[in-house]
Amino acid sequence: MRWQLKSFILRQLSVMPGGKTAYLSIQRILGTTRPQPRRDFIRAIELIELIRETGQQIEDTTCYEVGTGWHPFTPLAFYLAGASQIETVDVNPWLSLDSARKAIETAEQHLDWFCESLSLDKHEVWKRYRKIELRAKTLSQLLETMNTRYVYPGDATNTPYPSQTFDFVVSSNVLEHIPAEILKNIAKESWRILNPGGLAVHRFNPGDHYANDDFRVSTGNFLKFSESQWKPHGSGLAYHNRLRCSQYSRIFREAGFLSLIEKTRVDERVLQDITNGMQELAQEFREFAPADLASDYMWTVGMKANVNTENDLPANRDYIVQQTPKHRTGNA
Ligand SMILES: C[S@@+](CC[C@H](N)C(=O)[O-])C[C@H]1O[C@@H](n2cnc3c(N)ncnc32)[C@H](O)[C@@H]1O
Repeated sequence: MRWQLKSFILRQLSVMPGGKTAYLSIQRILGTTRPQPRRDFIRAIELIELIRETGQQIEDTTCYEVGTGWHPFTPLAFYLAGASQIETVDVNPWLSLDSARKAIETAEQHLDWFCESLSLDKHEVWKRYRKIELRAKTLSQLLETMNTRYVYPGDATNTPYPSQTFDFVVSSNVLEHIPAEILKNIAKESWRILNPGGLAVHRFNPGDHYANDDFRVSTGNFLKFSESQWKPHGSGLAYHNRLRCSQYSRIFREAGFLSLIEKTRVDERVLQDITNGMQELAQEFREFAPADLASDYMWTVGMKANVNTENDLPANRDYIVQQTPKHRTGNA
């Protein structure tokens, strides 16, 4: 589909009454809300691997997820890996009893692979999986059996939790959909609700999402538009903040986080277009480094480093900044 057509449809749905419900129905018809357990487990595994890279573990930890989406694969993965409490919030009501049930059912045939990927004890993971009450009558009852609570509408900038409640604040494919000012407040609130040494762990896609459906354009396509030109295409249901990786980095540092891991994936086609002068750049993007502009994925871990001495830092001091990711992430 041409990206301009998709932008037009999303724009209409964003402003018409009942647009969100219509959007959900269209997604269902197109099959885009079908659970994709392998893909979504991979994304959750990446979050867990990032945590482990810092020397921390999931067993008996508490986790806050921003942006649940249609299927609770991140909470499921954290529960199966041993987390004792997972709170997951969204500003849209995409998750339902039916979608959660389907996702958890489809996860079953990938469980052995999931355990092997994370070197988890299969016996323990299967035991946890079997504890999930798929016949529960409500979504909250179902999620409760996997130590999870879903909050909709949830405001990650202003949570009801006391300071120092969670070990991790995580998200997958969400931060690019949040305006910079809200993101700054989410980063500050994350810092508040995290325990000392707690981690903000995020993976997201800073590239132009229209490139997923229209192969005529690249993930750098939106860089040629000024803020006002982009607005009609990147608002409402199609919102994308167009922030570059260096800007995310600054937001978390300014909220007080110590950056432990930052990895980015560069779209070589976009990089080449930029260096050859083939990618037009709007004024607001001209000051960025080409690799920053061409990045189409980022993985970041910031620690609430309430540290006074070197000894307070986590065991694994081998911090990783700007490595080529070994991750298996696909698009969007
Ligand atoms: C692309 S979906 C990703 C969902 C899920 N994390 C996944 O990986 O499948 C982005 C989700 O972020 C949610 N979202 C956007 N802004 C948000 C905010 N400020 N707070 C919480 N969730 C938000 C959207 O409603 C949507 O469900």
